Amino acid sequence: MTTPLANKSTLEEIRTRFDQDVERFSNLETGQQATIDAPLVLELVAQTCARHLRPQSTVLDLGCGAGNFTLRVLREVGELHCHLADLSRPMLDRAEQRVRAGGAASVRTYQSDLRALSFPEGSIDCILAGAVLHHLRDDEDWTAAFEHFHTWLTPGGRIYVSDLAYFEVPEAQELMWGRYGRYLESIGGEDYRAKVFAYIDKEDSPRSLPYQLDLLKACGFAQYDVLHRTSVFACYFAVK
Ligand SMILES: C[S@@+](CC[C@H](N)C(=O)[O-])C[C@H]1O[C@@H](n2cnc3c(N)ncnc32)[C@H](O)[C@@H]1O
Repeated sequence: MTTPLANKSTLEEIRTRFDQDVERFSNLETGQQATIDAPLVLELVAQTCARHLRPQSTVLDLGCGAGNFTLRVLREVGELHCHLADLSRPMLDRAEQRVRAGGAASVRTYQSDLRALSFPEGSIDCILAGAVLHHLRDDEDWTAAFEHFHTWLTPGGRIYVSDLAYFEVPEAQELMWGRYGRYLESIGGEDYRAKVFAYIDKEDSPRSLPYQLDLLKACGFAQYDVLHRTSVFACYFAVK
């Protein structure tokens, strides 16, 4: 990661890139292939959700893309009230269409930066955040976002996060980054690896797993645990 925070992509640049990339996020069976174990993570999140959500619960999907996480949870839980939030209108349109067809009890969409969203205290049973929190930038951004998530959730409500998560120990990061590079080459060759690494460097500012777990506790979450970790990716949940 060589690009300093101040020179990372603007919201407008990020929105424009995703506006043109809807198809890549519209396959529920493969998930997003630039992340390792995407189908497994979708399954783990959905099956864990099914153990605490009931039909008619309220779910908020942050950076919903074309709706894969909500769709997979709907398949497991049944009718849900779905709030879909994303910067990109084409993503939201595709997500809304798929989530309605997937049996949602209701759907509302929000074209917004996740930092500008606001929901009433205790109004959301479950927050899903798939590959989006890496767009948060400095510590203030991360802290304010986690505080909002805690406020919006009902008591006992949960957040599920799946994202890039760096290793703080440099040798581990180097090893895992190399493994991720080889994974990308195995599905799309060297050019694909270079393209993905370039946009991660320009667009993303992920944090380590310990950073995120410590922040959850500091923001009042009662419990958390890791559902899956592979290479530079992690999937965890936290309970209010
Ligand atoms: C990598 S995609 C993941 C989509 C979906 N969660 C999935 O896993 O298939 C990230 C999505 O987050 C959206 N996004 C990026 N930055 C955002 C922000 N600051 N606020 C809201 N959405 C954002 C993008 O438009 C894109 O649709």
